[in-house]
Amino acid sequence: MTIFIKTPDEIEKMRVAGRLTSEVLDMITDYVKVGVTTDELDRICHNYIVNVQQAIPAPLNYKGFPKSICTSVNYQVCHGIPSNKKLKDGDIINIDVTVIKDGYHGDSSRMFMVGKPNVRAKRIIDISYECLWIGIKQVKAGISLKEIGRAIENHAKSKKCSIVHEYCGHGIGRAFHEKPQVLHYYSAKEDDVILQPGMTFTIEPMINLGKRHVKLLPDKWTVVTKDHKLSAQWEHTILVTEKGAEVMTLAPYEKQ
Ligand code: MF3
Ligand code: CO
Ligand code: CO
Repeated sequence: MTIFIKTPDEIEKMRVAGRLTSEVLDMITDYVKVGVTTDELDRICHNYIVNVQQAIPAPLNYKGFPKSICTSVNYQVCHGIPSNKKLKDGDIINIDVTVIKDGYHGDSSRMFMVGKPNVRAKRIIDISYECLWIGIKQVKAGISLKEIGRAIENHAKSKKCSIVHEYCGHGIGRAFHEKPQVLHYYSAKEDDVILQPGMTFTIEPMINLGKRHVKLLPDKWTVVTKDHKLSAQWEHTILVTEKGAEVMTLAPYEKQ
């Protein structure tokens, strides 16, 4: 029910977990190539998190999820399960990493293009990235959580893209998924949450080239677009501050 406000000590631990999460994504980048299987990407990330970072990959066994990262390819929206299928030229893939260090979670995902870039793939990757950052730019103490969804929805719609409604961002800390839910679209009926310094949550818009509707595959995890058009997602873990947001999973190529 309650939204946890993190203490300075907890915030420091969240910063460490966030940095490690971002470093897994940096580390895996050069392995995302034509011919690699998503199982291989999972194994490399798993070993790095466990052996190098001495941390825990949160997805593994989370509600029965069988792997250490999520890999969602092309029209897969989220929660794709790594498999023995090889990436091929022109694929796009979301890699979603969640690391637990010292009891606290960091959660972030990035998109990657495999082989030669193609125009439609680049378009949805760019628009979903803009949506994430437009959401982050809204954040500061005192605003309504609804402003995040409103800004993301306006941007996606201005680009004639749709927003997945069934999955959203979430509070994060000692637990993987805490209150509040962070919608990526505007909804009048949700309870209003006023942001306070010390809140930590993710923003992770899933943006589709076609219609917003999704379905769950028989594996009970992989979410795909109903129309099989491309979907893309980026995710950051953020901390609310008086002045704005501190991105705890910032990538080296990002400036705040
Ligand atoms: N990392 C995802 C999120 O952003 C959740 C994955 S749950 C799993 O919230 F079980 F599929 F790993
Ligand atoms: Co998340
Ligand atoms: Co995630």
